[in-house]
Amino acid sequence: MPLLKVVDRDGKEHDVEAKSGLKVMETLRELDYGIAAICGGMCSCATCHIYIDAAWAAKLPPAMSDERELLSELSHHKDTSRLSCQVEMTDALAGMRVTIAPDE
Ligand code: FES
Repeated sequence: MPLLKVVDRDGKEHDVEAKSGLKVMETLRELDYGIAAICGGMCSCATCHIYIDAAWAAKLPPAMSDERELLSELSHHKDTSRLSCQVEMTDALAGMRVTIAPDE
Protein backbone atom coordinates (compact mmCIF):
# COMPACT_ATOMS: atom_id res chain seq x y z
CA MET A 1 0.00 0.00 0.00
CA PRO A 2 1.43 3.40 -0.94
CA LEU A 3 2.30 5.77 1.85
CA LEU A 4 0.58 9.11 2.18
CA LYS A 5 2.04 11.90 4.29
CA VAL A 6 -0.82 13.69 6.01
CA VAL A 7 -0.44 16.99 7.83
CA ASP A 8 -3.30 17.44 10.28
CA ARG A 9 -4.93 20.73 11.31
CA ASP A 10 -2.41 21.08 14.17
CA GLY A 11 0.47 20.93 11.71
CA LYS A 12 1.59 17.44 12.77
CA GLU A 13 2.68 15.09 10.00
CA HIS A 14 1.62 11.45 9.94
CA ASP A 15 2.62 8.56 7.67
CA VAL A 16 -0.54 6.78 6.61
CA GLU A 17 -0.98 3.71 4.45
CA ALA A 18 -3.34 4.70 1.67
CA LYS A 19 -5.48 2.43 -0.44
CA SER A 20 -4.35 2.37 -4.04
CA GLY A 21 -7.23 2.63 -6.50
CA LEU A 22 -9.48 4.41 -4.01
CA LYS A 23 -9.99 8.11 -3.57
CA VAL A 24 -7.67 9.81 -1.09
CA MET A 25 -10.83 10.82 0.81
CA GLU A 26 -11.50 7.15 1.67
CA THR A 27 -8.22 7.00 3.58
CA LEU A 28 -8.49 10.42 5.21
CA ARG A 29 -11.99 9.98 6.59
CA GLU A 30 -10.91 6.97 8.65
CA LEU A 31 -8.37 9.00 10.59
CA ASP A 32 -9.18 10.60 13.96
CA TYR A 33 -7.60 13.82 12.70
CA GLY A 34 -9.03 13.37 9.20
CA ILE A 35 -11.90 14.84 7.28
CA ALA A 36 -15.68 14.63 7.52
CA ALA A 37 -16.47 13.90 3.86
CA ILE A 38 -20.14 14.50 4.58
CA CYS A 39 -21.43 13.98 1.06
CA GLY A 40 -19.55 10.71 0.67
CA GLY A 41 -17.66 11.79 -2.43
CA MET A 42 -20.42 13.41 -4.48
CA CYS A 43 -18.39 16.59 -4.96
CA SER A 44 -20.98 18.70 -3.17
CA CYS A 45 -19.85 19.35 0.45
CA ALA A 46 -16.15 20.35 0.26
CA THR A 47 -15.54 18.89 3.74
CA CYS A 48 -12.80 16.77 2.16
CA HIS A 49 -10.71 19.83 1.19
CA ILE A 50 -6.96 19.29 1.21
CA TYR A 51 -3.83 20.99 -0.08
CA ILE A 52 -1.48 18.95 -2.23
CA ASP A 53 2.21 19.74 -1.81
CA ALA A 54 3.37 21.72 -4.81
CA ALA A 55 5.85 19.02 -5.89
CA TRP A 56 2.97 16.59 -6.28
CA ALA A 57 0.18 18.83 -7.49
CA ALA A 58 1.31 18.71 -11.14
CA LYS A 59 1.34 14.90 -11.10
CA LEU A 60 -2.40 14.73 -10.54
CA PRO A 61 -4.99 14.83 -13.29
CA PRO A 62 -6.48 18.34 -13.37
CA ALA A 63 -9.67 19.06 -11.47
CA MET A 64 -12.93 18.83 -13.40
CA SER A 65 -15.16 21.90 -13.63
CA ASP A 66 -17.52 20.90 -10.79
CA GLU A 67 -14.58 20.42 -8.42
CA ARG A 68 -12.99 23.72 -9.49
CA GLU A 69 -16.27 25.53 -9.01
CA LEU A 70 -16.79 24.20 -5.49
CA LEU A 71 -13.19 24.92 -4.50
CA SER A 72 -13.44 28.50 -5.76
CA GLU A 73 -16.25 29.17 -3.28
CA LEU A 74 -14.14 28.20 -0.25
CA SER A 75 -12.59 30.90 1.92
CA HIS A 76 -9.44 28.77 2.46
CA HIS A 77 -8.97 28.05 -1.22
CA LYS A 78 -5.38 28.00 -2.54
CA ASP A 79 -3.77 27.13 -5.87
CA THR A 80 -2.94 23.66 -4.53
CA SER A 81 -6.45 22.99 -3.20
CA ARG A 82 -8.18 19.76 -4.20
CA LEU A 83 -11.19 17.84 -3.03
CA SER A 84 -9.75 14.55 -1.80
CA CYS A 85 -12.84 12.68 -3.01
CA GLN A 86 -11.83 13.58 -6.56
CA VAL A 87 -8.20 12.43 -6.28
CA GLU A 88 -7.47 8.78 -6.86
CA MET A 89 -4.57 7.28 -4.94
CA THR A 90 -2.19 5.27 -7.09
CA ASP A 91 1.15 3.57 -6.48
CA ALA A 92 2.77 6.33 -8.54
CA LEU A 93 1.67 8.82 -5.87
CA ALA A 94 3.43 6.97 -3.02
CA GLY A 95 4.95 9.53 -0.66
CA MET A 96 2.59 12.34 -1.67
CA ARG A 97 2.20 14.93 1.08
CA VAL A 98 -1.21 16.47 1.69
CA THR A 99 -2.43 18.95 4.27
CA ILE A 100 -5.95 18.91 5.62
CA ALA A 101 -7.48 22.32 5.02
CA PRO A 102 -9.07 24.31 7.88
CA ASP A 103 -12.78 23.92 8.52
CA GLU A 104 -14.89 26.41 6.61
S1 FES B 1 -16.63 14.32 0.21
FE1 FES B 1 -18.02 15.91 -0.21
S2 FES B 1 -17.03 17.07 -1.73
FE2 FES B 1 -15.64 15.50 -1.29
